[in-house]
Amino acid sequence: MCGIIGYTGVKEAQEIMLDALEILEYRGYDSAGLAVCGRDGCVRIRKCAGRVKDLRLLCEKDGIQGTCGIGHTRWATHGGVSDANAHPHKFGRVTVTHNGIVENYQDLVQRYHLEEKLKSQTDSEVAAAVLDHFYGTDPLAAIRKTVLKLKGTFALSIMFDDIPGVIFAVRNVSPIVIARARSGSMLASDVTVLGQYSREYFVLPEFYVAVLKEDGVELYDMAGETAEPEWQAVNWDVDRSSKGGYPFYMEKEIMEQPQVIRETVIPRIQGGIPDLSEDGIPDGLLADCKRICVVACGTAMHAGLVGKALMQSLVRIHMDVELASEFMYTDVIVDEDTLVIAISQSGETIDTLEAVKHAKKNGAKTLAIVNVRGASVARASDYVIYTNAGPEIAVASTKAYTTQLAVLYLLTGRMAYVRGIFGAEEAKAFAKELMRVPEVMQKVLDRKEEIHYIARSILNAQDVFMMGRGLDHAILLEGSLKLKEISYIHSEAYASGELKHGTIALITEDTPVVAVVTQEKVKSKEFSNIKEVQSRGAGVILFIKETFGPEKEASWENVFTSVFTLPAMEDGFMVMPASAALQLLAYYVSLDKGLDVDKPRNLAKVVTVE
Ligand code: M6R
Repeated sequence: MCGIIGYTGVKEAQEIMLDALEILEYRGYDSAGLAVCGRDGCVRIRKCAGRVKDLRLLCEKDGIQGTCGIGHTRWATHGGVSDANAHPHKFGRVTVTHNGIVENYQDLVQRYHLEEKLKSQTDSEVAAAVLDHFYGTDPLAAIRKTVLKLKGTFALSIMFDDIPGVIFAVRNVSPIVIARARSGSMLASDVTVLGQYSREYFVLPEFYVAVLKEDGVELYDMAGETAEPEWQAVNWDVDRSSKGGYPFYMEKEIMEQPQVIRETVIPRIQGGIPDLSEDGIPDGLLADCKRICVVACGTAMHAGLVGKALMQSLVRIHMDVELASEFMYTDVIVDEDTLVIAISQSGETIDTLEAVKHAKKNGAKTLAIVNVRGASVARASDYVIYTNAGPEIAVASTKAYTTQLAVLYLLTGRMAYVRGIFGAEEAKAFAKELMRVPEVMQKVLDRKEEIHYIARSILNAQDVFMMGRGLDHAILLEGSLKLKEISYIHSEAYASGELKHGTIALITEDTPVVAVVTQEKVKSKEFSNIKEVQSRGAGVILFIKETFGPEKEASWENVFTSVFTLPAMEDGFMVMPASAALQLLAYYVSLDKGLDVDKPRNLAKVVTVE
């Protein structure tokens, strides 16, 4: 949460930072600000509550010239949304931007007698004050002393008044990546923003200090010894970070799914069989574990639920899916026989990261399914499989989710094979069906206007219920999250059989119901459950596998509000076309309500605070 940018070089810093903050805004959009060291050596700040576009207006009226600066886009934690609480914060000779939470900031306020001196309610300004307290003439010493006093998580970018043209950075848990740009040096919260400036970056190691200058970057450990950065290539196209002609990133990312699923799956099919050897996943890891436990949050956790249904039915292995945020506090049992799979688009979700560390302490083997290369969850895990989704900018996750599913299919197929549950022919048939996903999903995307039409029927709903059984229920949990987070319609996904244990009391003619029916083994029970809600007056939007329908589609007309037929795959794979349809449903509701689809209120793309 919170996006940080820094640039020092030969170009105007303000322009570079404003452009970068627009991309980074998905990390938080409560306020934005920047500080630039002017040509006269003075650091000046422009900041405001609101979006980066508001900051841009401010800078157009009253800009700051200079070639070194730090910028920030905020997701508020400590201190409300206000101009004063926007970053950067300047205290004495020190200017900082901060991502994370300084948990002991109140103790520090007392200890350094800051009560009357602070201009904001933020923990971040306190960090600036402590830095100023320790700063004599040695910036590295001041940073070292300060970080020893801070409890919590932090990514700090720092400018000192008397060291113009230089940016310092240090972090604990919260991410910072650093790049050699063509015209100078840059830092950012994530690599998404760096692609257009540089092809080379490194992840700042925790408790190391980076010193960015126009002509290069230096790295120091806490003892003040120089260290060598581990440079890596930026592997994301600049194009993939643009909207590509779509009104919102979300639509573009939904439409990219066939391509990115292909890019995730195809390199991992060898001789027609799922094969994870290029990812360094030993077959023994999959053959020997006795239990699997997924740790993840939000959409990634929903991907885990689909994985659980697949693994349990095909591999017959015990699998749990745990909310990463609860994992450490609920005495979940993991041991050396457990394979813990951490799923995360960003690879920076703090709860998922902490869950991985906790699992490792308990002896479990850890495997990360992550989208962003080199992210913290990937580095903290024993093994990693990258989804090749490319940058996902919309806050609502779409292509990251379906590429996570694709990896879970690959894992399921490989595990069934190495455990002898699948023979070569079965493994090949499984992989063949998986490779059909892009083409089948494309058929749904080609009919997006049909779903747009269906979306209009729930535009004014206050509450929507979603019902399905088994895999259909797992998909609907995600479909429901998608709808509520971007349309602000209250939505709940229910296992159909559960409705009558309480929730059916809420069903009236004003509560539209979305039903998904794609699983042969529960189809007839599902239709009985649909009748139960229809008998209470609910209109039902039905997403159904095309081969399940009555012979004449016309016979549906009086029975359902709308029907969308999903192109057929084997039941175990219907998750994929159904997911695309539900994503489009949520997208069009939000679009037609005139909402900011990509940046729903109160949310941020990357959740780096607990
Ligand atoms: O980056 P992660 O996959 O770890 O993020 C986890 C959740 O915050 C995320 O999936 C969130 O639920 C989605 N953005 C919702 O669409």
